[in-house]
Amino acid sequence: MADRSDIDEVRRRTDLVSVVEKYVTLKRAGKGLTGLCPFHQEKTPSFHVSPEIGRWKCFGQCNESGDVFKFVQKIENLTFPEALERLALHAGVTLTRPAPPGLGAGGAARPAGDERERLYRINALALRFYRGILAKTPPALEYLRGRGIAHAAAEAFALGYAPDAWDMLAAHLARQGVDLADAERAGLVGKSERGSHFDKMRGRLVFPIFDVQDRPIAFGGRLLGTAGPGAPKYWNSPETPVFSKSRTLYGLGRARKAIASEGRAVVVEGYTDVVAAHQAGFENVVATLGTALTEEHVKILARLAPVVLLAFDADSAGLKAAFRAAEIFEAQDVEVRVLGLPEGEDPDSLLHAGRRSDFERAMDEAMPLVQYRLERLIRKSDTGTEGGRLALFKKALPVLASVPSVIEREQYVKRLAPYHPQ
Ligand code: UTP
Ligand code: MN
Repeated sequence: MADRSDIDEVRRRTDLVSVVEKYVTLKRAGKGLTGLCPFHQEKTPSFHVSPEIGRWKCFGQCNESGDVFKFVQKIENLTFPEALERLALHAGVTLTRPAPPGLGAGGAARPAGDERERLYRINALALRFYRGILAKTPPALEYLRGRGIAHAAAEAFALGYAPDAWDMLAAHLARQGVDLADAERAGLVGKSERGSHFDKMRGRLVFPIFDVQDRPIAFGGRLLGTAGPGAPKYWNSPETPVFSKSRTLYGLGRARKAIASEGRAVVVEGYTDVVAAHQAGFENVVATLGTALTEEHVKILARLAPVVLLAFDADSAGLKAAFRAAEIFEAQDVEVRVLGLPEGEDPDSLLHAGRRSDFERAMDEAMPLVQYRLERLIRKSDTGTEGGRLALFKKALPVLASVPSVIEREQYVKRLAPYHPQ
């Protein structure tokens, strides 16, 4: 039998919902998810999954329940050690006492040439490398201190440092037996014209990006200083077979539970915003990765909670994209609200200026997209003059026209009435 701690580790790193979703279409229902039970024939869903406690139950005919291991055992017809082995493989956990070969799933039969598995391994090796370097790099530790990121938060988010050297990572990976062509595919290593390999990310604070199973799949790296010409503030891993920006939310692994239990998710724009928010106790916060919120992002969040708050910079492209994407939220039955952050602030800057209450108030006062747009138009208009009011109405009309509900539209019309041009 495998180690107890191995079993716990596999459980911790395995996302029950994504495992079940390989077999069952799930829809959000209250704090959990529901779908048609895969263990008996039925027309109305009686199969429930609770991400919070990591358990599933059929309230229908078969009346079965269990955890993720039991689910895989039943659905794949495996023994416990076989199910453990299979989930361990996916979670990237090496079992201390693996199931004997031939016992079925995974194990000896693992295909040696699977590219994705190689990329996972490279990212895991790089993660460990960057973390080790951070601990030995005083200026990087000083930078963290300066930004108010405590040791515990740095550990929780597995922050690291990419040394400002030509090929330290490449050499390290090569020593670990990595084929550097794979490291190139992972986006971490480049190849010079003369054929030597070099590190793509250098001299940056590293934010590892994890998938739902808690495997590192990509990295974001921030310059310690201010960005100069030619060097962007952040370097990001490119899209790879294991990393798709449009399907990944930074911090989701650590936020999942809080999102499900609080019934709402907060989406911010930056890595540092997520770290600062979690450190301040707001654990339902995730970030997009320098891209607009996509349908996939919304779907992921919709499965966990009915409400999504957007804490984007007021003038950000992300917010404009969200206005255009209003239908995405509606289609997923998600109520989306926008946080009015003070101009020029992001959650990180607010929380470090000791304005925690401002952030909390912004969350409580978050508005539906349309309302937010109208309030912003009103605020930015010169409503004291006829011309200003006219301009306001010109801009507000298309926003009003986008509201499908008559009742809702009436409310906004009332709100605008005092500014009606003569
Ligand atoms: P911001 O410019 O708002 O940075 O970019 P930030 O997160 O507040 O970072 P700090 O506080 O200055 O350290 C928001 C996000 O946009 C992406 C990153 O994901 C970043 O977290 N971004 C930004 C890039 O990918 N590349 C860039 O050059 C800049
Ligand atoms: Mn910031």
